[in-house]
Amino acid sequence: MLRMKKLIVANWKMNPKTLSEAVSLARKTGVVKKGAGELVICPPYPFLSGVQKVLNGAALGAQDMSENTEGPHTGEVSAGILKSVGVSYVILGHSERRSELGENDEAVNGKVLQALKAGLRVVLCIGEPIEIRKKGLPSASSFVKKQLLGCVAGIEKLGLKKKNLILAYEPVWAISTSKNRRNETPDDAAFMASLIKTIVREKFYFTPRVLYGGSVGEKDVRDFVSQKEVDGTLVGAASLRASEFRLLMGKVFE
Ligand code: 13P
Repeated sequence: MLRMKKLIVANWKMNPKTLSEAVSLARKTGVVKKGAGELVICPPYPFLSGVQKVLNGAALGAQDMSENTEGPHTGEVSAGILKSVGVSYVILGHSERRSELGENDEAVNGKVLQALKAGLRVVLCIGEPIEIRKKGLPSASSFVKKQLLGCVAGIEKLGLKKKNLILAYEPVWAISTSKNRRNETPDDAAFMASLIKTIVREKFYFTPRVLYGGSVGEKDVRDFVSQKEVDGTLVGAASLRASEFRLLMGKVFE
């Protein structure tokens, strides 16, 4: 059976410090041979165009966007603006935006609808906080189901291209910067990925790609992406360490 190509999404978050560092990092990490797999680099907005110029085989992604299409929304960036500068993917609903900026499922839903309408590929982040996971996988499953369905409400009206909705399961407590972080197990990540696929299939009649994210590095990436339910990975800190990231890519795309 033909194996599906894996997807790696590099979320640089608010890094690196300058445009020249960003361009240098993109030169080292935004390189992928045709047919090897899909790689998306998501730098901060001001670095998008500079990074785009040096990508070699990788696609360009943004880390967020507005739920509005245009007008008086100071500091915001629309799906149309992103498309016009060559962005093809957008990360939405990241837990850092939810916790630092109070973004809720309704706001994320507005963004998801705008992004899909504009033809962007959405990488929608979902995942439970530690208090929920401590209660066990059934509680985590209910939390994730509610969050997911809240964020994708109404997408069936858009005549959506299936590959434009990608889910990223990121348990908040496994992200490298989270306080008292813990490791997710590949088995539990696979269980949650499978659950997410089932939820989308039952509601929208297609099976989306599901990535795992949460402190994935060169050493453990294979444990996650070798799970058949996991279609790739959303990487934060390790995507800023060029040599480690290249090793990680080698393992995912092998
Ligand atoms: P880390 O890989 O640094 O844990 O970040 C994960 C993440 O939040 C990616 O979006």
